[in-house]
Amino acid sequence: MVVSISETEINVAVDLATRAAAVASAIINKSIEERQSAMVETVAKTNSTDLVTMYDAQCEEEVINILKSGTPFYNILSEETRSDVELTNDPTWVVDPIDGTTSFVHGFYDCCVSIALVVNKEPILGVISAPRLQEIFTAVKGRGAFCNGQRIFVSESTTLEESVVFVHQSYNRSQRAVDSVIAIQTELAKLPVHSLRNNGAAALDMCFVAAGRAEMYFEVNIHAWDYAAGTIIVREAGGVVHDVDDTETYDLMRHGMCCGCCKEITAKGVELARKYDYRNAIMDL
Ligand code: IPD
Repeated sequence: MVVSISETEINVAVDLATRAAAVASAIINKSIEERQSAMVETVAKTNSTDLVTMYDAQCEEEVINILKSGTPFYNILSEETRSDVELTNDPTWVVDPIDGTTSFVHGFYDCCVSIALVVNKEPILGVISAPRLQEIFTAVKGRGAFCNGQRIFVSESTTLEESVVFVHQSYNRSQRAVDSVIAIQTELAKLPVHSLRNNGAAALDMCFVAAGRAEMYFEVNIHAWDYAAGTIIVREAGGVVHDVDDTETYDLMRHGMCCGCCKEITAKGVELARKYDYRNAIMDL
């Protein structure tokens, strides 16, 4: 059954997500100060490169408490403690309390809090706060995308040669996975694109595409919480987001997306992903 929510409910949700992102951002900032005297304690999740810290859990708890206080009947899918909640058509908060945990642990700037409201399995609201950059990206379906309150738009470029492209390393470091990523990066480097980048937070790199700083980003083996909020921000900035190996579909539970300023460019990303068997190589299929 298709679900609808009112403008008033959306306004309440915007307020909650903004407040929750601010509280989690304050925890990140404080922990960065603490980080100077004590190394953040980390635990490896799926393998030795996939890290989690006590701050991920702290941020998640605070965010969930705020979201629940105003929308007690919405579902919550969240990276640390609610990662196996089923995504239905009902309103669902999709939360990454710290996206870019590796950057956070190593003291880089590119970590953020990512909060989306998803209805009928489509993101309709996104708030991504990058405390170390002092940038907050927001979007609501039909209302545009913003960075610190200023409207943002994707780049007007239509050629890959004039593009900056993000292709992340994967947590999967099998020979097959590494070869696939390197083959894609090599082809783009030789094209040549203006530049390749390899940052540490999926949500934030989507915001960079939305703000016209890069033209394309694609990745597989990411989760709904990594790309739900970024999806609505890119779309409201005039860009496109679809599956990594199909320009016509989009699925938050299919663990992958390709986003960019226009389909002429993202179609090339899909072509490369297919050519180098990217999804299967990274997901061990
Ligand atoms: C990760 C980051 C990273 C991306 C990984 C994600 P996490 O999220 O977004 O940039 O390459 O696929 O899992 O683990 O830092 O929340």
